[in-house]
Amino acid sequence: MRQPVPEEINQVHQAGSTLHDGELHFRRLLEKLPAGAYTCDPEGLITYFNQHAVRLWGRAPKLNDPVDRFCGSFKLFAVDGSPIAHNQCWMALALESNEGYNKREIVIERPGGERLSALAHANPIHDESGNLIGAVNVLVDITERKRAEEELRMVREAERSRIARDLHDGVLQDLAAVVQGLEAARMEQKTRFEGYDTDLHREIDTLRQAASKLRRAVYDLRSEKPPPFLQAIESLVEVNLQRAPECEVKLEVQDDFPHEIPDETGRELLRIVQEALTNARCHSEARNVRIGLEVEGADSLVVEVADDGLGFNPASADSGVGIEGMRERVSLLGGDMAIRSEIGKRTLVRVRVPCP
Ligand SMILES: Nc1ncnc2c1ncn2[C@@H]1O[C@H](COP(=O)(O)OP(=O)(O)OP(=O)(O)O)[C@@H](O)[C@H]1O
Ligand SMILES: [Mg+2]
Repeated sequence: MRQPVPEEINQVHQAGSTLHDGELHFRRLLEKLPAGAYTCDPEGLITYFNQHAVRLWGRAPKLNDPVDRFCGSFKLFAVDGSPIAHNQCWMALALESNEGYNKREIVIERPGGERLSALAHANPIHDESGNLIGAVNVLVDITERKRAEEELRMVREAERSRIARDLHDGVLQDLAAVVQGLEAARMEQKTRFEGYDTDLHREIDTLRQAASKLRRAVYDLRSEKPPPFLQAIESLVEVNLQRAPECEVKLEVQDDFPHEIPDETGRELLRIVQEALTNARCHSEARNVRIGLEVEGADSLVVEVADDGLGFNPASADSGVGIEGMRERVSLLGGDMAIRSEIGKRTLVRVRVPCP
């Protein structure tokens, strides 16, 4: 809402003033500026403003009036929405510090509540001897530009969300279904021929990796962070409980265990826990499984998966790809892994990796 500009505003302060030529010339220049401009004396009293300033402020302050010190706006805010007192505005700072402040974004509130964005350029003015005699502030209205930018941002955001949704609900679900189907085929092959095709196993792994890369891309598109490590472990526990409700899975996390683990380490540890859990579910007939996450010493993370099932002999077990893969992952992280098992009693998989 624009307030009418009183015609006489600019004459008011000029009538009866004793401006010398230089100052008059300066003000005429400001008058021609396609931006709001005003000057203050060293005390912050407004000594001049042009009509653009009145349009921006939505009001015309009185000149040389202590009511409107430093700025003629009704209210001022920072970009983050926090209020700025007039004696803290850029004009006030320019006068106080005798330094220029340029391209500083501010939000001006008009008396009717409408808010505008502007770039303030507040600079001190000196006389021939270098004494501070006031300051000038040029306010460039960037409201329309900001609105256009915001609209563009929203359009982009909506487009990114649409692509993310398509990828997530379409391609990712298809990939998951293929992995599931291949996994089922592999299990059947394994029970029928008491062995399995390592090529197939590798292909499944590659597909899984592709799915997880795609999921990451979806997170990026949505500008979201992937769930932190603990959240992912909790989801894993949930999935296992659904698949084998007869087996209780307990997650014990030491208080100081980090909630966020950097990407690669977190991802590998998750895979290790996933395989150990799957083994416990598929081979042990355990009633209870415990996942323990701890910090050891100053610089190690320890992840344990323990079950109270059938147990096996790790030394002579027909080592499948699962345990082998766990070992490889642990060694890539520079850690070590131990499997302790007692036939008929329990199995414990203990992995220790350096804190990333
Ligand atoms: N928690 C466990 N309890 C009992 N036996 C286990 C346990 N973990 C592993 N085993 C035994 O060790 C073997 C090797 O495990 P590994 O994970 O390497 O292969 P897999 O589970 O048989 O196949 P894959 O993981 O490739 O699908 C298993 O077949 C099983 O006999
Ligand atoms: Mg396995």
